[in-house]
Parts: sequence; C-alpha cells; structure tokens
Amino acid sequence: MATQPVTQRDSFTSKIGIIAAVAGSAVGLGNIWKFPYITGVFGGGAFVLVYLICIALIGLPVMLSEFIIGRKAQRNAVGSFKKLAPGTLWFMPGIMGLVAAFMILAFYGVVAGWTLEYLLKSVLNAFAGKNPADLEGMFGGFISQVTKPIIWQCVFMGLTGWIVLAGIKGGIERASKLLMPILLMIIIILDIRAITLPGAAEGLAFLFKPDFSKLSAEGMLSALGHAFFSLSLGMGTLITYSSYMGKRENLATTAVQVTVADTVIALLAGIAIFPAVFAFGIEPGAGPGLVFITLPNVFQQMPGGYFFCLLFFLLLAVAALTSSISILEVVVAYFVEELKLGRRAATIMATVAITIAGIPCSLSMGVMSNVQFMGKTFFDWLDFIAANILLPLGGLLIVAFVGWYLGREKTETEVTNEGELKAGYLPLFMFLAKFVAPVVIAIVFLHGLGLF
Ligand code: TRP
Repeated sequence: MATQPVTQRDSFTSKIGIIAAVAGSAVGLGNIWKFPYITGVFGGGAFVLVYLICIALIGLPVMLSEFIIGRKAQRNAVGSFKKLAPGTLWFMPGIMGLVAAFMILAFYGVVAGWTLEYLLKSVLNAFAGKNPADLEGMFGGFISQVTKPIIWQCVFMGLTGWIVLAGIKGGIERASKLLMPILLMIIIILDIRAITLPGAAEGLAFLFKPDFSKLSAEGMLSALGHAFFSLSLGMGTLITYSSYMGKRENLATTAVQVTVADTVIALLAGIAIFPAVFAFGIEPGAGPGLVFITLPNVFQQMPGGYFFCLLFFLLLAVAALTSSISILEVVVAYFVEELKLGRRAATIMATVAITIAGIPCSLSMGVMSNVQFMGKTFFDWLDFIAANILLPLGGLLIVAFVGWYLGREKTETEVTNEGELKAGYLPLFMFLAKFVAPVVIAIVFLHGLGLF
C-alpha cells in the first residue's frame, strides 16, 4: 500500500456526488458560525455587500481556476503545479496551501468540537428555561475550560481522520450527499421563526442595509478573506477535489452551482441569527460565541424546539466534518503522492500534528486568553494569517497561473472538455483571471494590512 501508484487514484462516482462533495467542503462552520460572527464584528450590511462582491468577482473565477488546474493535472495541490509548470516556482502556492490547511484545521477542529458539546447539551435539554444572559454565561464558561473543549476537539479530529482514511468514494461523497439538504431545510425553518420574532426588522436591516461609515480596511480584508474561506479557495482544496473529477464534468456549471449554494446558505444563516440577536438584546459584535448564544434562544421560542435544536447541532457538526475532511485531504494527498507515505501513516501523522496545534487555540479562550500579540490571541492569529493572508495570496497566484501561465488556449481546452462544451463566458473569465481578480486582491490585501 505504501507506494500506491498515482494512476490508481480514487475518484468521485457521480455528478451529484461531485457537487455534493465540493458543496460539502464549502458549506461548513464558515457559513453558519464565522459569517454571522464576523458580519457582527465588522458592522453588518456594508461588510456583507463587500463580501458578495468578492464572491462574484474573485471567488467564482478562483474556483473555476482551481477546477481547471486540478482536473487537468489530476494531482494534489503541489503536484498539480509541478506537473503543469515543471521546473518553475509555481508550486509555491501549493506549499502555502499546505501551511494554510494546517493552520485552518487547527482552529476549525476546536470550533467543531464546540458543536459536539452543544449537540450533547441539546440532547440533555440543557438550554431549557435559560434566558439570553444564562446562555451567554454557559458558552463563556464552557469554552474557557481547559480539558472539556480539548476532549471534544480530539473527538472531532479523530472522526475527521477516520473518514479520510476510508477514502474518497466511501466516506466523503456518501456523507455529503445525504446530509446537506437536511441542513438547508432546518436553516429555512429557523429563518421563518427568526423573522417572525418581535423586533426582527432591526436585525434584517443590520444585515442588508449597508452603512459604509462602519466599514474599515480590516473589514474589507476580512470580507475578501472570508470569501476564500467560505468557498474553500486559495489553498488547493478544490484543486485536490477536482483532481478526482471525470473528464466529462462541466467545470463552469459546477463552480456556479457551488458558489450560489454556499452564498445562499451563509445569507440564510445570517437571516436566522441577526433578527434574533436584536430581538434578544444580544451584542451583534459578541464574537465567536454569537451563533452558540443566539440560536439556543431561538429554539426556546419554537414549538418542537428541543428536536430542532438537537438536529441543528447534529447537522452543524456534520457540515463541519464534510469541510474538515476536505482540509485534511489536502495535506494527506500531498504526503501520499509527493512524499510517498502510505495513506494510513499520512492520515494519522497529519491528524495528530494538527490536533496538537489546535490545543493552544482552544486554550486561547481561557487560560491563555491573556497571551496576546498586537491584541490578538493565538486563535485569532492562526485565523488571521491563514484566512486573511495565505488564502488571498494563494488565490491571487492560482488565478494568475491560469490567466497568465496556462493562457487562453489551454484554459479553453479544459473548460470545454476538449471542444465538447460551449464556453461563451471565456473572454470574461480570462479578463477576470488576468486582471480584475489579481488587482482587486492585491489592493484589498495591501490596504487591509495598512500598507496602501
Ligand atoms: N469552506 C469551509 C467552511 O466554510 C472551510 C474550508 C474547507 C476551507 N476547506 C477549506 C477554508 C479550504 C479554506 C480553504 O466552513
């Protein structure tokens, strides 16, 4: 097993399976936990608007670029660049992606662990009769503990490693296909409850009415970074996934479908949360606890709340899992194909190392909360460096690679499946890939870091 030849690669088996797996990677804590929380921190509507512009102008072209690279090369994130641009430094974004994958999964595993604790709390009916202040105290009390959050983090990372070991077809595809639609349904039910709460209008206005006076340079950079984070872009996840796609897949349609689905789910999550935030008098900028504090309040106000709450945290954990496996897969595919490790050894090593790196992230919420550098904890730094620096830079190099290095002819061959499909969007895509996306990323990036 140790030196399985690359020609024996696993692959996705059906069209719906591919979309489900890519959407499963994209839809996760980014949509339901991070998007509402940073929208609250960065002031609402104007941030959301910048985020949507970043998705359309940058996210979509970067996603298509990752698909083009991965499916053309049929390799992992680093190997794909080495194959398409041998003897050049173009493999660097692949290496940056590995670093980003490592950092993101370290803190992702911690937050995903929180969802498991909240799943258990829902089973035990621990939210019954609690008011918003109680629920805030409950969340703060839990994440600041030393051992409990770390145990949950280890459980979650163990699950992630186990699914990645089971391989592409058996694990990832099946889980995604079954559970994503159910998650969507629950969020819609939550939305209906939230927008009929007294005072809901204020929350919707916060989310959709841009107030540009609240938009900071860091807010814009975070909107860009989050567009990458939410769509799983900029670190080779989708290069890796699309390397398992068949030659007849329509890359552009898949990219559009996944982007729309991911964005809709993030907005629906926002619609579930902000009306409730205002109705219950919770601070919109409350930070990473926003979802965990707000939603149990909403469930309290619903018939069948016990059941929906349980189902929600279960599916949130599953959504996190279909994302975390896609992050781990980047590292594992690299270890297996480039370093020639066995899949088992590679998975175990990567999982253990990332889990260990996650421990100080978890402690940042409690005993290490005072260990700060420039006002950010260890957790905040991993998130900031990975999401706001490595992903946008990786994304810039990825679109530029397709726009400038591969060029129009090779791109056309790949997106049309060697002439089978029409690609009327090609001139627009090339323009976005060569000029718009790289320039906008560079400006927002330098501006956000205060360098421009
Ligand atoms: N997109 C996922 C989410 O929204 C997280 C994720 C999976 C990710 N793969 C990624 C983020 C690759 C950045 C890069 O929860």
